[in-house]
This record gives sequence, structure tokens and C-alpha cells, in this order.
Amino acid sequence: MAHRLTIARAARLVGVHRSALQRRVREGTLACVEGMVTADELQRVFPDVEWVTHGDLERVARIQEESFGRRVRERTLPSQEVLAQRVFAQSQELADARRHLQRYHALVQAFRERLGHAAADHPPSAALLAWTDDELARLFAIDAAGRLEVLDAMLGVVSPHVVLQPGGHEYFAEGHDTLLEAGLKAGLALAYGCGNGSCGLCRARVLDGEVRQVRHHDYPLSQAERSQGHVLMCCNAPVTDVRIEALVAAGPADIPVQQVVATVRAVTPLAPATTLLHVQTPRTARLRFLAGQGVRIGSTGAQGDASAFHPIASCPCDDRNIQFHVGLDPPDPVAQRLQAGALRVGDTVTITGPYGRFALDVSTARPLVFAACDLGFAPVKSLVEHALASEAATSCAVLWLATRADGHYLANLCRSWADSLDRFAYHGLEDPDPATGAERLVDRWAASAQADAGACDVFVAGPAPFVAAASDAFRLAGVTPSRLHAEVLER
Ligand code: FES
Repeated sequence: MAHRLTIARAARLVGVHRSALQRRVREGTLACVEGMVTADELQRVFPDVEWVTHGDLERVARIQEESFGRRVRERTLPSQEVLAQRVFAQSQELADARRHLQRYHALVQAFRERLGHAAADHPPSAALLAWTDDELARLFAIDAAGRLEVLDAMLGVVSPHVVLQPGGHEYFAEGHDTLLEAGLKAGLALAYGCGNGSCGLCRARVLDGEVRQVRHHDYPLSQAERSQGHVLMCCNAPVTDVRIEALVAAGPADIPVQQVVATVRAVTPLAPATTLLHVQTPRTARLRFLAGQGVRIGSTGAQGDASAFHPIASCPCDDRNIQFHVGLDPPDPVAQRLQAGALRVGDTVTITGPYGRFALDVSTARPLVFAACDLGFAPVKSLVEHALASEAATSCAVLWLATRADGHYLANLCRSWADSLDRFAYHGLEDPDPATGAERLVDRWAASAQADAGACDVFVAGPAPFVAAASDAFRLAGVTPSRLHAEVLER
């Protein structure tokens, strides 16, 4: 039987974006049955790909490692126990395949012998014998599709494929990641609470495949629940490719407001009047949020309490690490603390949230356009990283207007996205007037847009005059009003 691969795995092996393969399936140039493609078909469509050393594959890996800034990502092998179990599962499969092969081999040999007896005085039998020998020689030749199957099997051991039902979201579990950790790194808003086996909120049901408990948990699962396949995603890792029944937040309404005490890990100037505040939540109380949302940061000290709303500038896939871009011109109460050196590395802050509806729908793969003014870049950065992590876009464009002296304080990051990723465009513009700047920026995008404006999801973040002018300009350019999402920030 032909070796079959999921679209996600096939895209990984070929080194292209999953949406590129999905587009080929829609166009009818890549045969796909029930979401699976065969190794032979993949080889037919991508005859020149060097499976193991393909540049795009390396490039995607490099971008994941570097551009996303995932400090928590560890590209290590799974634990010995999980690895042993995965190898055992593959060995069982191999043994089954070998048994079947031996039976077929015996059958083919018997068939050849009978043909050989008949071939002496029966020309059609001689022709059939020659054809059988040719076909057998062709079948046993090691071709690129065969190498692809080997690579697929190896990936199955190192990073099993996880599919969530009923949403159909999919991701790979790398290294010793649990089902939950791998899902969060893939940018999925899975239901969870403590992250350490106490609350039971990450409970899910295994429908297909095998998982193994890799961490102790206090939350009691009844015998009946266990026998129905219920597991805690924060304490189990996949052994084989698996299908799991688990809930993923469909939007901001599915995420409750939480309060978490986090520790300041870094305070780094990005520009004279813009500071990067990096906080880390405890292992036992992580903050669940969607990219693009914000929180209220609270700080207590000798000078009393201070708090301010700030959009989150990092992706939920950064797990416990949360970043903010804090403007000091003029400073809000939290910025004042930073400026005065009263909020430092090692201090704690209270994070309350998340708030806001400025979030991405990752269930549809559409072209995405992000327009930011000044510190509006913070929620846009979160959304872009989330879109890249979840492969939620067919193309991306980032438009950034700078009206402050700090300009495009992370222009290098935007350029690295544009340089490293196909179908990613970056337009930076400086203009002291947010309204005219917005119009000029949208005009510039419209003149070079790779996608039909009516098909794009557009996200606009910044001060009110910018958001109003940019929204009008996008509508004029043909963007569908229901696909226009706006976040007004005070500065
Ligand atoms: S997140 Fe609390 S038990 Fe898994």
C-alpha cells in the first residue's frame, strides 16, 4: 500500500508552507484523499526536492528558532522512556509490514515458478514472466519516494503529529514537549490552568494513537475516565501520531480574565523613549491569552500602587514569557516606575487580563495585513508571530507608521521577516501626522499588494486619528468592512 502523509507532514518534508500544498490540492495539481497525500504523489509534484537538506526546510527551522524569539523552545530529543516507546511502536509496525512482505514474497515466487513452467511452450506466459521480472526490479529500486518514507518515519519518532478534534487544528510535538506545551508553542489557545497536573482544565480524550504520562499529576482521573481515553495534556506526551478531542478557544469570549503574579526578567531600552519590559509567569500559574490582547500591569512599592493597560507584544507561543513595549513619552504610571528605576529585574508585577477583541481567527487561512502606528506595533508583533507560528496566513504585510522620534524601533525584526519569508512584505513610513501618514501608507500597500484587498483580514492598531484614517483608507482600497479589526491605543 502506498505510504500516506498528512498535508502538515508533507509540507514539512518538502519545506513549503502548508497553505501552498493546500492551494495545490484545491487547484487539482496535487492528489489528496481524506487529507492525506502519498509519498509517490509528493515525489511526482516535487521531483527536484532534496528531502534531507532542502534549503527551505532549514530556513523554516531557522526562522522558528531565531525570529520568533522562543526562549522556551528546546530542540532536544524526547525523554528516553518516550523515545523507547515510540521506537517500539515503529518496530511493531515494521514487524507487521515484514510479515506481510514475506507472505507476498512467497506468493510471487510461487507465481513466477508456475509461469516459468508454462513459459517454455507458451509465448504469452513468457511475456508475462518478463513483465513480472521488470516490475519487480522497478519496485525494489530505492527511489526518492522511498527515502521520503524513511524520513517521515524518523520524524514520526522525533516529532509526532497531533490533530485536535473537533476543530481540526494540528501541530507537531517536538523534543520532550507534552501535548499541552507543543500545542501552546504552535500558537493554539488550548484550555488549561495550572500547567502542572493539579486543576484538570487541560483534560482531553485520546481518539487515536498512543500517549504516555511523562509527569506526575495530583488531579484525580477516575478509572472510567481513563478507560474512555481521558488524559491531562500537561502531563502526557504523544508516542505516535495522535488524534485528540480537546477544546481550543474560538475567540476572546472563551478566555476568562485571570490574575497572575509575574517576575520582571528584563528591562531593555529599544529606543530612547521605548522600553522592552519582559516578565515571566510562574510555572504553576500561566496567563492564557490570545495574540493581540492586552493586560493591566500592576506594581506596588514604597511610592504606592501603580497600574496601566498595555498590549502584549509577544506571542502566546512564548509560553510563560510575556513582553510589553512601554513608551516613556509621556510616561504612564508603570512607565514612570521604569523610568525612575523603581521597577527592576527580579521585582514582581500583577498581571490582570487578558482584555480586548483584537485577535486573529486562525481557523481560516487568508492574506493578512497589519497596520500599526508607533507603539501600535506591540499588538501587531504579537499577531504576526502568532500568524507565523500557526501558519494562519497565505501572505502577510506589515505597515508601520512612525510619528515619534523613536521611529521604527524594531525595523530590523520587520526586515528579517520580509527577508526570510516568502509572501511577506514590510512597509515603513515616517510622517508626523497620523492621519495623512495612514493614507500614504495604505496607498503604498495598495499599489504593491500581493493579494486581492477584498480577501484580506486587516488589523489596525494605534492612536485614534491613525485608526480612523487607516480604516477609511482600507475600505476605499476594497477591504471588506467585516474583515477590518481595529485597536485604538491611547498613545
Ligand atoms: S493545566 Fe492544570 S491539570 Fe493540566
